[in-house]
Amino acid sequence: MMQDNVHRYFATTVGLITTDGKWGQNVMAAEWTMHVSYEPMLIAISIHDSPTLWNIKDREAFGVNIASDDQAALVNIAGGYSGTEIVKLAIPGTFQTYRGSTGVPMLKGCALACECKLVSVQDMGDHVLVIGEALSAEFDEKKYPLIYTRGNYRRLGAKLPSGRKVVRVTETAYAGLAKMAAGQFVLKCAVAQVKSGRKTLYVRSGRSWALPMVAVKKGADYRKALASHLASLGVHAEVKKIAGMQRVTVKSGKQSLRANFIVFSCTAKAEGDGWLLRSPRGLLLKGLLTP
Ligand SMILES: Cc1cc2nc3c(=O)[nH]c(=O)nc-3n(C[C@H](O)[C@H](O)[C@H](O)COP(=O)(O)O)c2cc1C
Repeated sequence: MMQDNVHRYFATTVGLITTDGKWGQNVMAAEWTMHVSYEPMLIAISIHDSPTLWNIKDREAFGVNIASDDQAALVNIAGGYSGTEIVKLAIPGTFQTYRGSTGVPMLKGCALACECKLVSVQDMGDHVLVIGEALSAEFDEKKYPLIYTRGNYRRLGAKLPSGRKVVRVTETAYAGLAKMAAGQFVLKCAVAQVKSGRKTLYVRSGRSWALPMVAVKKGADYRKALASHLASLGVHAEVKKIAGMQRVTVKSGKQSLRANFIVFSCTAKAEGDGWLLRSPRGLLLKGLLTP
């Protein structure tokens, strides 16, 4: 048996779902509102049996208006009364509407407003999952969505720092890493920490040294990519477990590149040319790759 009030520990935005139909113009609050497909742009809402659902079935259209953080009072009204009780949209000085192309009322002042045509209605547990395809989208860059969690309305906090270490490298080293990134947003590499006794393997990288590393394609197996890279270097090593991960921002002059390194511990089967006992001078990304 699930504990009570578990739903309070989610954090959501709040959709103000607008409708028109046999039950008249209406608005309800729905925290269970989210987009579920890019193309076509599909939006899901999970609602109970109420005038909102009846109108949606009647007109096969609805408005999804994501409340902005200055619309908490409107959310309270939309969620606190039913269309069976009052015409919420007719309360003076509250909701400001405009007419959408399907005829449903849409709300002004929201973070995002999408007019949707009905795609599917499906019973889902104790609610009904309604999916609509967005026909249009209006948004305001200056408005941020209201957040609902633990029964309270909140504003979004400050943007979080990336948590990446900043590593400065030479222009040449930077160019090498940028080449490996091949235009990708974040360079994602598998790195080998090949140990044989107290020795670690380093490979030449231009005029400096580095742990053997290879950029891994999206979706590809990191261990396999690293094993074949080591084999291509003529290194006979077994790729073992992940020793650590480093997320860094590599900088050179004004250029910067985000890079993630998954470091694998490896054991050598035979010693190769590049064996060095300790970090050589000019080690690329020194210290970072030897967790
Ligand atoms: C913040 C908030 C979020 C809500 N989220 C949902 C929801 O996701 N689904 C739902 O069925 N009801 C939700 N409700 C309750 C409905 O908004 C409420 O029952 C409303 O009166 C229904 O309107 P209607 O009867 O006019 O259709 C929420 C209420 C509040 C205050």
